[in-house]
Amino acid sequence: MDFYEFNKLAGGLLLAGVVTMFIGIFGNTLVPKQDGGHGAEPHGTEMAAAAPSAPAKPAGPEPIAAMLAEADIARGESITKKCTTCHTFADGGATKQGPNLYNIVGADIAAREGFGYSDAMAEHPGEWDYANLNAFLFKPKKFIKGTKMTFVGLKKTRDRADLIAYLRTLSASPRPLPEGGPSEPAQEGEAEPKAALPAPPAPVQAAEQAPLDALPEPEGQAWSFSLIGAAAAAEPARSLAERLAAADLKKGKKVSRKCAPCHTFDKGGKKRIGPNLWNIVGADVGAREGFKYSKGMIAFGGKWTYERLDAYLTKPRKVVKGGKMAFVGLKKPKDRADVIAFMRTMADEPLPLP
Ligand code: HEC
Ligand code: HEC
Repeated sequence: MDFYEFNKLAGGLLLAGVVTMFIGIFGNTLVPKQDGGHGAEPHGTEMAAAAPSAPAKPAGPEPIAAMLAEADIARGESITKKCTTCHTFADGGATKQGPNLYNIVGADIAAREGFGYSDAMAEHPGEWDYANLNAFLFKPKKFIKGTKMTFVGLKKTRDRADLIAYLRTLSASPRPLPEGGPSEPAQEGEAEPKAALPAPPAPVQAAEQAPLDALPEPEGQAWSFSLIGAAAAAEPARSLAERLAAADLKKGKKVSRKCAPCHTFDKGGKKRIGPNLWNIVGADVGAREGFKYSKGMIAFGGKWTYERLDAYLTKPRKVVKGGKMAFVGLKKPKDRADVIAFMRTMADEPLPLP
């Protein structure tokens, strides 16, 4: 037994002891045992019963990576019946007791806007990658101690694999399966990662008909209409300047994790699939030394003003025609403002806010 296992076992026994004690002391007053003790069942009984026999059982969930490719997606969908009292799964679905779960595979943990997470979940770092989902859905309260998701977990490995394979399909650009290798191409260049395929272009069409007077200061270039239009249509309520003034730098840093497979942000950072982005706000477009830009980016030219960054990050490929940033874009105006505000701080002399 290694140290880790020992700790778990010791923890389990201790917990069992405490629970048993608790039940011993308070059980009679709190739990009406005569009629089945329904109310207390999920917690007290299960733990007290499970813990003493724990040494025989495997400590964690069985991995699912190898099963995902063969998983039964239709069966996975039917397993969501266990979740639908608390979760919706459709794009734009409502918040219930738990947050909407569209596009959850690969998403940041606790990042759905407008949902009040427990501190435990809100403070948990990382993404819902396959391994994290597997561990969480096996035993939610064990993976995130203090989570308010009161769901006992899915003990059967096959159930988790089928369900997670189904969750993966709920996305405009499903994440690659684990065996499919990393989600980014090894080389900068043409191969587009699946995760970054552009989403259906619906919102932009509406944007192109946006009234011209809603556009900030056209610079007489072809890009300005469709681009800034796209940003304006997605964000009718608050101007970019207002969003930047109210931006949340910590959130912005979090959003920048979406860029991290391809970009570094620190001074002197390496190029990855994309160029280093230190001091990019206000900088010349396509001018990082040693990075090979697309022709589209070179033709785009000029400087990275706040407006242009906002438009580019809304729909990279729409704004820089022939560009090679294979990133789907940030739909939420607040996400864009937060990440731009974060990038602004990654400079010796940040550009003044607009
Ligand atoms: C009794 C209600 C309930 C049930 C049933 C339930 N959940 Fe949850 N779920 C929640 C709550 C509440 C949260 C937020 C937890 C927190 O903030 O600690 C949550 C959070 C989550 C998250 C994290 C979301 C995020 O934004 O990071 C995932 C993933 C999740 N649930 C998946 C599932 C799946 C899959 C099922 C069914 C197998 C399920 N849940 C069943 C209530 C529930
Ligand atoms: C899948 C990889 C990938 C992701 C993810 C990605 N980028 Fe890029 N990015 C690139 C590539 C490649 C280029 C060069 C584009 C070209 O030459 O057309 C680029 C270029 C840029 C530029 C222009 C740099 C310059 O020197 O002019 C900015 C700004 C930028 N990205 C910001 C972001 C931000 C912010 C995010 C995250 C919200 C992001 N990118 C996500 C690959 C990516």
